[in-house]
Amino acid sequence: MSTFQAPKGTYDLIPPRSAVFLAVRDAISAQARSAGYGYVETPGFEDVNLFARGVGESTDIVTKEMYTLTTKGGDQLALRPEGTASVLRAALQANLHKQGNLPVKLWYSGSYYRYERAQAGRYRHFSQVGAEAIGAEDPALDAELIILADQAYRSLGLRQYRILLNSLGDKECRPVYREALQTFLRGLDLDEETLRRAEINPLRVLDDKRPDVRKQLVDAPLLRDYLCDACKAYHEEVRALITAAGVVFEDDLKLVRGLDYYTRTTFEFVHDGLGAQSAVGGGGRYDGLSEMIGGPALPSVGWALGVDRTVLALEAEGVELDLPAATSVFAVAIGEEARRLLFGKVTELRRAGIATDFSFGGKGLKGSMKDANRSGARIALVAGERDLAEGVIQVKDMESGEQRPVAPDALLDAVRAILG
Ligand code: HAM
Repeated sequence: MSTFQAPKGTYDLIPPRSAVFLAVRDAISAQARSAGYGYVETPGFEDVNLFARGVGESTDIVTKEMYTLTTKGGDQLALRPEGTASVLRAALQANLHKQGNLPVKLWYSGSYYRYERAQAGRYRHFSQVGAEAIGAEDPALDAELIILADQAYRSLGLRQYRILLNSLGDKECRPVYREALQTFLRGLDLDEETLRRAEINPLRVLDDKRPDVRKQLVDAPLLRDYLCDACKAYHEEVRALITAAGVVFEDDLKLVRGLDYYTRTTFEFVHDGLGAQSAVGGGGRYDGLSEMIGGPALPSVGWALGVDRTVLALEAEGVELDLPAATSVFAVAIGEEARRLLFGKVTELRRAGIATDFSFGGKGLKGSMKDANRSGARIALVAGERDLAEGVIQVKDMESGEQRPVAPDALLDAVRAILG
């Protein structure tokens, strides 16, 4: 072991588990790509005010969890705690919204940082794949995103997850509700900090997990009873579209989410095998965010799915992904001359697009064959002095156990024939 360890709340992705992470990222992004979302990549850090304004001054993410730094030049930056504000900032900066084809649909994948209390499933460095549809108010877009996320989890073989759905209203009806909720909260027996939170952002109090607070919230007014007609109709249309797609969801009238930019549709994917950190993904509509960060009105909707928690969910359900072996061919050479010949063949096979590995380090036949087995390769190539004298390379099909000598010139065809 070295003197150093990965920082608290972080961990390293190493083989073979790391292959599952890649497969999860691929499965999620495949859904976004299949629906016309283009890839976007933004910096790992941004102006701290982008998140303060976008995610919200009163959220835990901004007040407690951001990794902030001042550069030598005096700029105030933050490691990105989430992707939506950055992606919208990038789209505005590149004027993507002015190029005539709204919505602008973008997907991304990367690392995010939150200084959270570290525990199982909750890390300070974690991975998300996200999708954002910018610049259109259309319930079919909200439905599309929910259906795509559902399909991503399904394609991975997950079954024990649930979709929670709610509407948070818009700038017409939410303020009325906010007042009603505030009046209700003022009458409760709450600590100082919670009372302060009730004044700044009363909806966040609904998300309080403490039992004594939850008990008092039972009779809290519900946003559903305050939704304006436009929000009600919009929400009904989203519900109808995802129902028609056969996606099962639950109405969760207290779902508020941890970021302030949401309006109307909000949803969360929760997995029942994960304990306290059960949200494997979440998202919703954020019609006001663009204006909050200095842009024009651009109603938008999106989600981010947590790669770490999705992998934990797969493990909790005992789902084994059908991962292709990283290596198709493993070459075992005994003796200097054979090494030179086979190393050349390895390069040739790789150039032909066949994933091939080689017995490095001058091991004997037994040790090298062990490596060949461990690699999961379908084919082992073996050459020693006697093979060279006979002008052949032994080609062993590791599945059937069958082995036959092949002339070096005919090797590529022989390998292709076995791999199909
Ligand atoms: P979020 O709910 O904060 O939403 O994060 C989305 C997902 O990221 C969570 O459901 C969870 O799986 C994962 N995640 C969040 N924090 C952690 C953590 N500390 N450790 C491990 N996994 C974590 C957003 O970030 C929004 N930007 C989603 C969105 C996109 N809304 C609209 N567009």
